[in-house]
Amino acid sequence: MASERYDSCWLRYEASIDDERLESYRRRCLHVYASDGAPELGVVREELRRGLEGVFGREPHLWHHPPRSADGFLAVGLPDEMRPITESVDVEFVRSLDDDGYLIRAVEWEESDCLVLTAPTDTGLVYGTFHLLRLLATGEPIDDLEIVEEPANAERIVNHWDNPFRGLVERGYAGQSIFDWERLPQLDERYADYARLLASVGLNGLCVNNVNTKIPGREGANEVVSQQAGWQLLESANLEKVAALAALFRRYGVRLYLSVNYASPMLIGGLDTADPLEPAVEEWWAEKVAEVYDLIPDFGGFVVKADSEGQTGPYDYGRDHAEGANVIGRAFEPYDGRVWWRAFVYSDHEDRAVQAYETFEPLDGAFDDNVTLQIKNGPIDFQQREPVSTLFGAMPETALGCELQITQEYTGQGVHACYLVPQWKEILEFDTHAPVEGSRVADLLADTPGQGIAGVGVVGDDPNWTGHYLAQANLYGFGRLCWDPDLESETITDEWVALTFGTDPEVRETVSRILLDSWQAAIDYHTGGIGLIHMMYNGETALENHYDPSPEEWPEYTGVSEDGIGVDRSSSGSDYAGQYREPLASRYDSPETCPEELLLFFHHLPWEYELADGTTVIQRLYDGCFDGVERVRVLRQRWRSLEGRIDERRYRHVAERFDEHAHQAVRWRDTLCAFFYEYSEIPDEAGRIPIEEC
Ligand code: GCU
Repeated sequence: MASERYDSCWLRYEASIDDERLESYRRRCLHVYASDGAPELGVVREELRRGLEGVFGREPHLWHHPPRSADGFLAVGLPDEMRPITESVDVEFVRSLDDDGYLIRAVEWEESDCLVLTAPTDTGLVYGTFHLLRLLATGEPIDDLEIVEEPANAERIVNHWDNPFRGLVERGYAGQSIFDWERLPQLDERYADYARLLASVGLNGLCVNNVNTKIPGREGANEVVSQQAGWQLLESANLEKVAALAALFRRYGVRLYLSVNYASPMLIGGLDTADPLEPAVEEWWAEKVAEVYDLIPDFGGFVVKADSEGQTGPYDYGRDHAEGANVIGRAFEPYDGRVWWRAFVYSDHEDRAVQAYETFEPLDGAFDDNVTLQIKNGPIDFQQREPVSTLFGAMPETALGCELQITQEYTGQGVHACYLVPQWKEILEFDTHAPVEGSRVADLLADTPGQGIAGVGVVGDDPNWTGHYLAQANLYGFGRLCWDPDLESETITDEWVALTFGTDPEVRETVSRILLDSWQAAIDYHTGGIGLIHMMYNGETALENHYDPSPEEWPEYTGVSEDGIGVDRSSSGSDYAGQYREPLASRYDSPETCPEELLLFFHHLPWEYELADGTTVIQRLYDGCFDGVERVRVLRQRWRSLEGRIDERRYRHVAERFDEHAHQAVRWRDTLCAFFYEYSEIPDEAGRIPIEEC
């Protein structure tokens, strides 16, 4: 990757590999016979050149025919394209793989030790190339290699929440947008490096702008604000810019998507309505989509946030969400693209958690085939921990996408280290019992065109891409899990650490442990660990910044009162619990059987309610907050033990972040404990409150 300008993340290719292993790599990979032709193959050759040079410390030899003089070589191409491959694999089998799949095999060909890398499509070769380079860069053996890979999820998309033109990123903590819409269609070299990062972990889609395409209540305030609006990307003049980006990302197998405003027929088309049942509106969408495909033949589709947080939607015309989505879906019928319709809809409902299900479940089967319902993982909003949304499993006749958040909106933003792969594993492995036991979220999504996972983006123009060096691991892990949700958290983590910080066993072990323990720490000091939810607010600026502790705000989320804490979402309350299939509904309905980590999400409990081990709710909350701080201190200590073992720049950056992280964890603990005490008037048994320490 370039340059002084920005970090190489996990594509450093700086392995320190022992001589014997290196010798086996030399035999099979120093000479490369790679087919030419399609643009993706240029990417394959460039990446092999770059990666192998990193591994060998010298340029590999790239050939257009089998290199006769070499001991052995790597052959990369479609299955029927070149003899070493045709004669080493079952061509029909390779052709039968998923379009993004690939095969890598160690073979003997004409008495040489070779590797073959083949795939049914050029994109598969791109993914296979990154896989092979990952193995080499982490010193894995290759002499008996036999890999067949296919992605579990058809759609593996990053959703940027970038506001074009002004370059701000909503809930972004890594600088400004990396997309410079003023300069586009002129391309920045960084776009290609971003595409490499995405493709290297198997991602295949990128939505370039914020789901909020119009900032509510602000239009017309001044020219600058109106230029910030993402709806304008759909204007003909701007589509050229989108097309330039799409052409670049296409080479890496990444398709582009746009967030569009539901009122586009009015904003752009000059119509006086966006009513989905109005023929002129239908016609407008059809023409607009045709225009997009003229410029971008592999366009991925539109993401739509409608009837939510001030964005227009079908409710404005008395239509339901299926009618609303299908009018755009029909415009995609002639093409291989779709509408990702977000289920994040809530209004002044007494319990926001119940609303998405009430809105969408009755519409199961009513959405067209080219509409995917994009559902946030939990019913509220990317909290530190939430139960899995009841919509998963409730809509068997609808294409589903799971929306995760890679950016750390409620988990410490660019300051706290919070590795989210364990959270995502918990979500994807959640058994919905729909229709039967063993139906995990991962299973509901997998192996179906139009289904998959979308993650709210984390990348900005900071030199380290993600604001915090350790947050790069979240982007890496997101891609790896989209490709294969059955990968263990430990495996993904170890890969990332080895690729990013090298193969020194102590560094590998220590950084992995920091990452794997960080989510629980964040849950503890932010919530006390038993399912408390609260919006996070900065009192001084009156901004809902989702970072600062402000438990007093919006008591409807904490359910706090003098008699107890938590929100009653059982059958005696909002009955969100009742939206699950059995036995989950009954399990969540009773505080006796509800998992402790979600207790206060589902129940309002007296402060002195006794948990299974005899601890009271109030004491557990105090303990949880104190444990959280201790956990952060342990993480910081582990990081400090790495001084001198990793480069100074990254060491210092993360060490400073950990100082601030520890400080913030104490602030959270103290604010929460004071809040609990104020309402309960029950002191901490251990006498730790009031707390002076900071
Ligand atoms: C949250 C987030 C907003 C975002 C919204 C969404 O409320 O704070 O910034 O726009 O989710 O997902 O649409």
